[in-house]
Amino acid sequence: MTLSEVTLHAPAPTGAGHFRTPSRRDDRHLLGLEGISRTELLELLEDAAREREWLRSGAPNRDDLAGCSVMLAFIEDSTRTRTSFEIAARRLGANALTFGASASSLNKGETLLDTMKLFEAMGTQLLVLRHGMSGAAGYLARRLPGVGVINAGDGMHEHPTQGLLDLLTLRDAWNGRFEDRRIAIVGDIAHSRVARSAIAGLSALGTDVTVCGPGTLMPAEVEQLGCAVAVSVDEALEGADAVMALRLQKERMEKGLLPSTAEYARVWCIDAARVARMRPEAVVLHPGPVNRGVELDPSVADSERSVILAQVQNGVAVRCTVLKRCWAAWKEAA
Ligand code: CP
Repeated sequence: MTLSEVTLHAPAPTGAGHFRTPSRRDDRHLLGLEGISRTELLELLEDAAREREWLRSGAPNRDDLAGCSVMLAFIEDSTRTRTSFEIAARRLGANALTFGASASSLNKGETLLDTMKLFEAMGTQLLVLRHGMSGAAGYLARRLPGVGVINAGDGMHEHPTQGLLDLLTLRDAWNGRFEDRRIAIVGDIAHSRVARSAIAGLSALGTDVTVCGPGTLMPAEVEQLGCAVAVSVDEALEGADAVMALRLQKERMEKGLLPSTAEYARVWCIDAARVARMRPEAVVLHPGPVNRGVELDPSVADSERSVILAQVQNGVAVRCTVLKRCWAAWKEAA
């Protein structure tokens, strides 16, 4: 058996299966895309497209979030999500503050909940949380009665605003039609909150999703998420309307889930020959940051097919929409 066959057929890592978003609905929060209806997703995308036009116009800041205190708590590193939430909150007139774990009393042993209770006591109304633990955003949503919680990526669970910006990018590429389309998602499905949100959103909109990746990085019974599984990149990309490559997290190598980066790249990297298997107008997505030459060949990452920077631009618009939605619900509940 070759190394590739080992990674294709080895059992899935423990604990990498499904993580369900709590079903009780409270629109002050956005914890995941799972369970959001097709109609609501389309309305969110329509609003985000309008926000994008406004952002592109360079018009002055608005006051939609006047009186709203937004705490951007990034307990795990981020560039795109943190800065785009900051831009969106400030453009809409919120009082936005960014909190990072380094140089905080978390390092003295203060718990996440006690820290977030401080922010609630200081008047925070919306909390945008990035955290390495699956379920962290839902945990705080249940324990901070006066705060709306927006999940900016929690462990292996969901990254709903990334999912929405991916949907908005595909809406443009696919002229607004999600049905009769097929996307391939390639890489570390097991640990990917990006993949879970994308699968939830795309399935609700009627798009066929095919996943593929090393067997050690594929959740058991992944089909239960609403997708098909291909055994190779070539099979997954054949006739597809888009491909989403996922970031390979270096720690997976250290845990022995992959033989080497070079081996991963040889088997799973999206190069020009693989892109040529897709439909002529198909696009290439990546949530970033890209490991060039590992998940995407540089010639693909920088090609006309790549919509990576459109994803980033759409991220600001989507976050405007989500902040407005959660703030409106917060005011209604107050
Ligand atoms: N896509 C994404 O979440 O990127 P950041 O980690 O830079 O926010």
